[in-house]
Amino acid sequence: MRYPMNYRDLDRRHLWHPYTRRSAAEAQAWPLIVSGEGPYLIDDQGRRYVDATASWWSCALGHSHPRLVRAIQDQAATLQHSITGNLSHPGAIELAARLAGLMPSPGRHVLFASDGSCAVEQAVKIAVQSHHNLGHPERHGFVALSDPYHGDTLGSVSVGFMDAFHRPYRNLVFPVTQVTLPAGHPLSEPADAEARFAPIAETIRARADALAGIVVEPLVQGAAGMRMYPAVYLRMLADLARETGAVLIVDEVAMGYGRTGRMFAFEHAGIDPDIVVMGKGITGGATPLSATVVKDRIYDTFTDGPDGDRTFFHGHTWSGHPIGCAAALETLRVYEEEAILEGVSERVQTLDETVQTLDGAPGVRDVRVFGLIAAIELEPGPDLRRRTDAIRDTLREQSILIRPLGPVVYLCPPLNIPMVMLQDTAEKVVRAVHRIARPPSSR
Ligand SMILES: Cc1ncc(COP(=O)(O)O)c(C=O)c1O
Repeated sequence: MRYPMNYRDLDRRHLWHPYTRRSAAEAQAWPLIVSGEGPYLIDDQGRRYVDATASWWSCALGHSHPRLVRAIQDQAATLQHSITGNLSHPGAIELAARLAGLMPSPGRHVLFASDGSCAVEQAVKIAVQSHHNLGHPERHGFVALSDPYHGDTLGSVSVGFMDAFHRPYRNLVFPVTQVTLPAGHPLSEPADAEARFAPIAETIRARADALAGIVVEPLVQGAAGMRMYPAVYLRMLADLARETGAVLIVDEVAMGYGRTGRMFAFEHAGIDPDIVVMGKGITGGATPLSATVVKDRIYDTFTDGPDGDRTFFHGHTWSGHPIGCAAALETLRVYEEEAILEGVSERVQTLDETVQTLDGAPGVRDVRVFGLIAAIELEPGPDLRRRTDAIRDTLREQSILIRPLGPVVYLCPPLNIPMVMLQDTAEKVVRAVHRIARPPSSR
């Protein structure tokens, strides 16, 4: 299909691109994507690009997976929407039960939303109200990690405050105590973990009486540049949440659905979170849907009766949208029948072996690979943006789409990307980094 020549102009004049600098929106130096197929995004000239970041880490099953297309079409022909407030429908019921069954222990209720941010927002409010319901309105504080990201609504901005993104809203957000976990590979077992965690535990214990919850990205902090920390610290945080009565909220929006090789990243730490937040990959990336999966211990505080109304007065129009639920249910079937998680383990080795060749290369500060994530952190310097932009542009010329995060060039492809394509993509990234990464001062 031919698209009108004036699309670029219309775009410039009317489309607000999220997380996009104005200069980039004006320049329009990007392809016009008109379709997707497997690991590819395809532009209006018919050129196929490898979607090497799975469209903001969401398209876990690539694009237009035939089974998801069929599930969406069938559902659209049957029931497009019906609310879950004082009504129900089979897709939402079945999906809630399936998600509950993915948790490490029985007893969960699931509140759906459409974006990760909204599902985090729900989790934060549920944690606060559950303490309120139990007669502890003073417990409304939160602990989060430093350099966090939990989305862009104000509650999720509060628990995920990042100065670079959120500075203008500093006066609107509620205060949150941030703690810094020592960096390291998620599967490493640092010998000094207890000692390094001790000051963090002290900080949290000192606030225990006012604490509603602890909110974490499990093992990998995506927006911080794929920052990684050892699973042992997540285990320690979970123990501390139990000790202090804080609700442990694990935000699996980015890492859930197999990105780290397990269905959920928290599984590597062997913990059982109070609330698990899911989004992105939950529908294979095919439609918007997110979920806040809550332990019944917490759900059971939301009662109404002669002693008071403790209803959760929160909900989104599209909560439990039938088409999203149908896509999510089919996604779970595809994960099983196409052995998606097993496929991740096979691919990790290829990715790791290829990308680790950059370790110690000029201009490269760090290389991190975990699950189907490869992050290459460049040395800082005044021309850092020029270097990351140049790597991005070089790869685009080779039909690979990436989107660096600050100093970090990373790959986060669809989980079912063909092995040969993964290898080829990783090799091209390695070559581009070798050629471009070094800051001018060290040339
Ligand atoms: C860990 C995490 N939580 C929440 C969000 C927000 O999700 P959404 O963009 O769907 O609102 C993101 C998005 O990248 C994320 O990485």
